[in-house]
Amino acid sequence: MRQDILDFLIQHKDEFVSGQQISEQLGISRTAVWKHIRVLKQRGYVIESYTKKGYCLREAPELLSEQAIEEGLSTKVVGHHIVYRERVDSTNNVAKKLADEGAPEGTIVVAEEQTGGRGRINRSFLSPFAKGVWFSLILRPNIPPMEVSKMTLLAAVAVARAIRHHGLTDCGIKWPNDILVKGRKMVGILTELNGSAEKVNYIIMGIGVNTGITAEDLPKDLQSIVTSFAREGVRVSRLALLETLLKEIEGLYQTVCRDGFAPVLAEWRALSCMLGQDVTVTSIDKTFSGKAVDIDENGNLLVATPEGVEVVMAGDIHVR
Ligand code: BTN
Repeated sequence: MRQDILDFLIQHKDEFVSGQQISEQLGISRTAVWKHIRVLKQRGYVIESYTKKGYCLREAPELLSEQAIEEGLSTKVVGHHIVYRERVDSTNNVAKKLADEGAPEGTIVVAEEQTGGRGRINRSFLSPFAKGVWFSLILRPNIPPMEVSKMTLLAAVAVARAIRHHGLTDCGIKWPNDILVKGRKMVGILTELNGSAEKVNYIIMGIGVNTGITAEDLPKDLQSIVTSFAREGVRVSRLALLETLLKEIEGLYQTVCRDGFAPVLAEWRALSCMLGQDVTVTSIDKTFSGKAVDIDENGNLLVATPEGVEVVMAGDIHVR
């Protein structure tokens, strides 16, 4: 029904149509019309509404349809098989299922909205309709499982490059997988592995970039720690951003396959916003403070403390 209302508004774009007209045309109550319009507005449709005049569609959000993505692709493998969904629980879940069924390397799953977007340590990841680029990429790298955490670093470098390219030049990487702008989180990356002790079957690289999220979309406790292109005052095309992301990932992935991870680690260091900072680390078994001094060749964070250098393989970092 919501789609029918939308189609009706699109047919009458930039004209006012009354709630009565829509309800008669579609055979639903005016309250139902109003409720659907409210959801469309939440989804980024700009619809003017006045009691006497009715509703007028002014602007529709840019959607990431398969065809639209294909038209702008400049990659050879990454993104050449696209699975597009309006709404999923998590693109990583859909991608895992497809990978288990044999989907080829480079397959991407893109959604307008995630109802159960996931972050590290089973945290949830807010992914409202058309307010970000939420996608997962299937890769089948020929690397030992031990090296998979470095793929997250690769993703972080690719995303930082893409975000800079689209106007946010002051973004930086926070170990291991966040991109921050002026200290607030703009991107999350969740890399998941399927394989045995010896072999990687596939990895799912899940990336979420906040584009249109505003303060109203965020719960109070996230308002001071989460940002987006919109909150930073930069307009971005989600399609163009996705295409840049895919291009940067593919470029770095080719570099790694050819030259190993050293060039990625070097660029990660250059893009880091936390090396040299005083941090508090909360890992599985302890919490301690020190200075983040470097990452090692495996992508672990090195933190200098009065007792010596701690090697952090997993944990939460708070910059003090
Ligand atoms: C984090 O912040 O800890 C990681 C967040 C990763 C979010 C992305 S959005 C696309 C993909 N699908 C998910 O459920 N998670 C990742």
